Amino acid sequence: MKIAPSLLAAPLTKLSDTLKALKKDETDFLHLDVMDGHFVPQLSYGEAICEAISKETEVPLDVHLMVSRPEAEAPKYFNMKPGYITFHYETTSFPIRLAQSIREKGIKAGLAVNPVTPIEAITDLIPYFDMFLIMSIEPGFYGQSFLENSYDRISRFSKLRNEYSLKTGNEVLIEVDGGVTDKNIRQLKDVGVNICVAGSFVFKSGNPGEKIRELKMKCQ
Ligand code: DX5
Ligand code: ZN
Repeated sequence: MKIAPSLLAAPLTKLSDTLKALKKDETDFLHLDVMDGHFVPQLSYGEAICEAISKETEVPLDVHLMVSRPEAEAPKYFNMKPGYITFHYETTSFPIRLAQSIREKGIKAGLAVNPVTPIEAITDLIPYFDMFLIMSIEPGFYGQSFLENSYDRISRFSKLRNEYSLKTGNEVLIEVDGGVTDKNIRQLKDVGVNICVAGSFVFKSGNPGEKIRELKMKCQ
């Protein structure tokens, strides 16, 4: 199981300390929640802060765009060479075209899906993405409780993902975001999740490295 701590839940005035505490050998990705105050109620940070962060860490970035116009926003992150750029299914009529333009830059493309969207809506898009981010909360804030119907949604999607990978040999990962803790991560692994985003669980204590290790231990 890979862990992507969500910086949104860290003390934002102490970014530099947080980045130093996240060691690259135990932090798989640094999850950056870009919120525009339009698609989601909150405004967080954008490309300027993300670019500054990218210069202060060796951990690959996992950019999660919660924005209404992803076609206009995604290119602003290309020069940071993130590991993933993920945008929401609910925000565009042309997800395939945008995924292609992200992949052309050598960046992996992710598609996020809100709890309200039937999981079947994204199954035809499996061949066009490297990763699917299944939201286990409604996006907008950290610290919300995990929605229990997510296991079933992930498990149904995982079966189709596995069939596709078996047929083509292409790897497609499943990421889950929202309310991940030491209590649910094992079950998430069992239904097919490859990457867990964790915000408040990792940052509520002063030692994010220890919390990341705790989450990984539960999956062994
Ligand atoms: C919420 C964000 C999440 C959030 C996760 O919209 O996408 O990444 O920060 O935080 P927790 O783990 O506290 O739910
Ligand atoms: Zn997120």
